[in-house]
Amino acid sequence: MKNIKYITAAEAVKVVKSNDRIHLHSVAVTPHPLINALCDRGRNKEFRNVRIQHIHTEGPAPYADKEFEGIFLLESFFVGGNVRKQTQAGYADYIPVFLHETQRLIREGHLKVNVAMIQVSVPDKFGYVSLGTSVEATLAAVEKADTVIAIVNPNVPRAFGDAMIHINEIDLFIEDDSPLITADPGPISDNDRKIGRYVAELVEDGATLQMGIGAIPNAVLTMLGNHKDLGVHSEMFADGILPLVDKGVVNGKNKAIDIGRMVATFLMGTKRLYDFVDDNPGVAMQDVKYTNRVNIIATNPKVTAINSALQIDITGQVCADSIGTKFYSGVGGQIDFLRGASLSKGGKPIIAIPSITKKGISKIAPILTPGAGVVSTRANIHWLVTEYGAVNLYGRSLQDRAKLIISISHPDHQEELDKAAFDRFGPHFHFVWDEE
Ligand code: COA
Repeated sequence: MKNIKYITAAEAVKVVKSNDRIHLHSVAVTPHPLINALCDRGRNKEFRNVRIQHIHTEGPAPYADKEFEGIFLLESFFVGGNVRKQTQAGYADYIPVFLHETQRLIREGHLKVNVAMIQVSVPDKFGYVSLGTSVEATLAAVEKADTVIAIVNPNVPRAFGDAMIHINEIDLFIEDDSPLITADPGPISDNDRKIGRYVAELVEDGATLQMGIGAIPNAVLTMLGNHKDLGVHSEMFADGILPLVDKGVVNGKNKAIDIGRMVATFLMGTKRLYDFVDDNPGVAMQDVKYTNRVNIIATNPKVTAINSALQIDITGQVCADSIGTKFYSGVGGQIDFLRGASLSKGGKPIIAIPSITKKGISKIAPILTPGAGVVSTRANIHWLVTEYGAVNLYGRSLQDRAKLIISISHPDHQEELDKAAFDRFGPHFHFVWDEE
C-alpha cells in the first residue's frame, strides 16, 4: 500500500493542461476545493479548451460561467439547477444519454477522461476509501482517467458496494473537512399529498421501489407506513426512506437480488441520510451500470418506478428534459426505470405530476411544445397520476388514452383539451362522460 502524501488543491490541479477532459464527482460529494483551484488557473488563462463532464454537481458551478468561455466547456450528462441558465444561454452544453450508459461513454472510450476529481472517505487499515454518496459514472472515470485526484474528507461516509476503491487507484491526494452538501426535503404541499396518496395506493406489499428526488416521491413515502416488505433498488434515495427503514417496512425481504439491502448510485439529503449509509452493510452504493441497467432492474419483483415529467401530451408522450427548446434537466434514469419496471413481474411504471404548474400552465397539453424532448415514448407509459387520480394507459388506444389523460387534467383546462382531442381524432372521439 502506498504512503499518502497530501498536497494542496492548487498543486494538484497543475496536472490539467489545454484540451483535457475532466470528470467531476457529483451531487453531495462535488469536489469544490479542486473546482475552485481549477477556476483560479482558468482565470489566469493557464490553459484553454478544457472540457468538464459530470452527472450533476451541487453548489456553485463557476466553470460553466460566461467568464470562462474558451477556457472551460461544460458537457454535463444532466442539466442541474446550478448550470441551467448557462446551458440555456449556450455557455455550457449537455450530452443526452441514458443514465446507465454514462459510464459506458467513459469505459468504451467515447469520452477520454484525462483527469478525474473525486472526494472520498478516509482510508481504512487496508487502504480502502469510499466514493461515499455518489458512485454513478465516477467509478468508470477513476478506472479510465490518466490522473485521479482525490479529496480525502472525514465527512464522506464509508458507504459499501462499488463505492469502495483502493488508494492505489488514486494519484494525488488533498485533505479537506468541509461538510457535504445537504438538501432538506422541505414541507409537503396539499397537492403533493394528494398525488402521493394516489401513487401510494399503487404500491403493493413486497414492491421494489425506485423514486426520484423531490416533493412527490417524498409525499409517497410518508404514506407507506403500513406497507410490508418493501425493497429499494433506485438511482437515488433521500431522507424520506429513513422512517420506513426504522419501522421495518423497507427490509428488502422480497427482492430477488440484493436481498435485504438497499441499492442506489447516488444520494442527496441531510446529514442524517449520510450518517445512515456510513459503515452500513444494508446499503450498497453501486455503479450506475448496475443500478440503472434495465435487465437488472427487471429482475426484482413488483418494481414500482415513480418518476416525474415537465409535460405530457394527450397521447402519452412524456417530456422530462426541456421546456420547449430550453433544456431544463436531462434524460436521466427515467427510461431505464420505466422500462425495467415494465419488464418486472408485477411491475408498475408510474409518471406522477401536478396537473398544472405553479403559474397555472397545464402540464397536460394537446401536443408537446415545439422543441420539447420526448424522454419516454407513448409505448413506455403505463400509469399516469395527478392530484385528480391515477389512470393506466398501458394497452390503451390513442383515443382511449386521450380520454383517460384528460380525465385527470386540471378542470380549468379540460374543455380546451377535449376540443383538441376532438379536432385531432375526429367525430369518433367520444368523451367518457358523454358515454355514461
Ligand atoms: N410548461 C412550462 N413550465 C413548466 C412546465 C410546463 N409544462 N412544467 C414545469 N414547468 C416549470 C415549473 O413551473 C418550474 O418552474 P420554476 O423552477 O420557475 O418553479 C420548473 O419548470 C420545474 O417544474 P417542476 O414540476 O417543479 O419540476 P420537478 O422539480 O418536479 O422536476 C423533472 C421534474 C421532469 C424536471 C425531473 O423529474 C427530471 O429531471 N426528470 C428526468 C430525469 C429522471 O426522471 N430521472 C429519474 C429519477 S432521478
